[in-house]
Amino acid sequence: MATDTPTPGPEQREATEQAAAAGTPTRSLADENANARAQDIEQRMTDDERFSLVISILGHVPGGLAGPRDPRIPEDVENMSAGYTPGVPCLGIPAIQSSDASMGITNPGYRPDDEGATAFPSLIALGSSFNPKLVRDEGEAIAREARMRGFNVQLAGGCNLARDPRNDRNFEYFSEDPWLSAVLAAEQVNGIQSQGVVSTLKHFTLNCNETNRHWLDAMIDPDAHRESDLLTFEIAIERSQPGSIMSGYNKINGEYASGNHHLLNEVLKGAWGYKGWVMSDWGATPEWEFALKGLDQESGVQGDRVLWGKEPFTDDLKAAYASGRLPKERLADMVRRILRSLFAVGADRWGPPPAVDMAKHAEIALEGARQGIVLLKNDGALPLPTDQPLKIAVIGGYAQQGVVSGAGSGAVAPVGGFAGVIKIGGAGVMGKHRNLFLFPPSPLDELEKQFPQAQLDFDPGYTPAEAALTAKRSDVVIAFGIRVEGEGFDLPDLSLPWGQDAVIDAVASANPNTIVVLETGNPVSMPWRDKVRAIVQAWYPGQSGAQAIAEILAGTVNPSGRLPITFPASLHQTPRPELPGLGTPWGTAVTIEYNEGADVGYRWFALRNERPIYAFGHGLGYTAFDYDDLRLDGGETMTASFTVRNTGRRKGADVPQLYLTEAPGDRRMRLLGFERVELEPGESRRVTLTADPRLLARFDGRSGKWRIADGTHRVAVGKSATDLILTGATRLPARQFGV
Ligand code: BGC
Repeated sequence: MATDTPTPGPEQREATEQAAAAGTPTRSLADENANARAQDIEQRMTDDERFSLVISILGHVPGGLAGPRDPRIPEDVENMSAGYTPGVPCLGIPAIQSSDASMGITNPGYRPDDEGATAFPSLIALGSSFNPKLVRDEGEAIAREARMRGFNVQLAGGCNLARDPRNDRNFEYFSEDPWLSAVLAAEQVNGIQSQGVVSTLKHFTLNCNETNRHWLDAMIDPDAHRESDLLTFEIAIERSQPGSIMSGYNKINGEYASGNHHLLNEVLKGAWGYKGWVMSDWGATPEWEFALKGLDQESGVQGDRVLWGKEPFTDDLKAAYASGRLPKERLADMVRRILRSLFAVGADRWGPPPAVDMAKHAEIALEGARQGIVLLKNDGALPLPTDQPLKIAVIGGYAQQGVVSGAGSGAVAPVGGFAGVIKIGGAGVMGKHRNLFLFPPSPLDELEKQFPQAQLDFDPGYTPAEAALTAKRSDVVIAFGIRVEGEGFDLPDLSLPWGQDAVIDAVASANPNTIVVLETGNPVSMPWRDKVRAIVQAWYPGQSGAQAIAEILAGTVNPSGRLPITFPASLHQTPRPELPGLGTPWGTAVTIEYNEGADVGYRWFALRNERPIYAFGHGLGYTAFDYDDLRLDGGETMTASFTVRNTGRRKGADVPQLYLTEAPGDRRMRLLGFERVELEPGESRRVTLTADPRLLARFDGRSGKWRIADGTHRVAVGKSATDLILTGATRLPARQFGV
């Protein structure tokens, strides 16, 4: 083995020194050199070093999946998390240390002395902001907190489509729409990688339900897959060049995602030319042969030992190599892909740690909550007056303690600790991670700040009758509805747990002046909807959620969030009224047919003429907006421009949305573009949106091409997928493109 580090040329040295001084890597230079360096360094490695690079070892958590501390993790590695891979210092290869996830740096017990990280809003809340810049800021902040702990890979970029409102993991994903999800996921990756930390996009692909996920076969028409979940990854990859893609647990059309030759070798690395590495999810590598099918790294190997009784990339891969079943070139490619991404992002050239301004990160978390909370209904009850001695009943939802966080591997332990952790439990390996986590401060405390003249009366919502007594003696009721959602589970229905629907119904009957605040990761059924005056969808709003909720109720903040997922009136409107496999024991093989194909969410509702209770894109505020003067340009794609005017009396933000509503001979709804615009009262702005041509096209798997049909394409500019204000049509010529 050669021990000398490759000598950088004078330009590279200068740039690297400057970058080190500034504490940031030199990305463009890194991009140019990454492939060549990876090639060069890989050749100098021993086989043992190569094999050591293609696995990661899960950190030890007392009582956790990994068991006792793994001897492969050196004693001097202080900050452990989801994955550790030894480096090769003499070749300039850093150890790879990965941490979850998309909403901050998690710590389910890996680091007892860690003081806590910024807990950003759930991704579905950030999805509701429709604000790529905000998501980028969040990504940068997460990466700074990762670097400060020595983590150079962030397991972020959750971008599965929210196909099913029962998927308990939807809060870790941005939306049900490919374009919105791709644009936002790309900005999170760009933010993270700008700080010298590799980001994943995950979970590739169609990991859209959690029921028995290790044995779940997700069936889909391959062309429809290209137009939906795969298109999300394709666009996000183009816009951000993530260093790694994490494959899902599930199978797709019969083949495990981590060993899916078609999706990994032919689509991702072939058709799209992806240069980074594919890591498996933790416990998603049952066989070494996955290496032949496109998997480059087995993650958290102890997970595979628990699930499949072995560590295939440790136990079997070497034997396969020795016998020639794993070609040398394939092993070299696996290694080069990992090195290339570390080098391209600059994870091997960290200068001094970046300054981490936690106060600034808290501001980003607060802004995320403010922009992510969606006002679903308001009959004029909101904002509540702040200058009156109102008697306000605050009911339920642990609102005296904190706001809810999603559970599972994405749950962040905040600075100063949780306000409460209540163990829920459940089947499978994720049962012990299913907790009600509460972030301080409490909504009750924050409401007191916003309503200094009011008298606040808290009732836990313990029984409907008791809560109704409190409601009756109040001027206004703010009822909280919460639900614990998290990895490893699917919801059986859309109701609120613990009898909360009955409590809300009872308080609304006792006092019609009731406002409901929901802290959930998915749509809920709201049987009491017509009885209440306002509904605020706060999602899991992160560490500053309580403040943002109180500000929105008081009107200090003008709500601007828009739904990134359709709220169905009932599951009967959705593609799968019954969820296959729900309730079958852990370990049961399950098949889910995603027969809606690319018509996910609002697209499905449009095709079937179903009316949801709240549509994709819907969200109210305390001012009003008008759209006018739509102009369309055709050609290779479509460009729409129109004017947005704030016709109300308050400054506010709007998110006009451009939809394709019909293509020639094909009724088809597609979000083509959106923009978040902030306007003063009376102010107007011209917005121009150009569609990615793939959103106008259909994918033809036989030719591997996208095809735009010749003829009239109808579009609309709307406030949601069902509130279309301006309509227009333009002719596009037939066009075929793609590899
Ligand atoms: C999750 C991944 C996560 C990994 C590492 C898995 O259970 O599905 O999203 O990154 O654990 O913690």
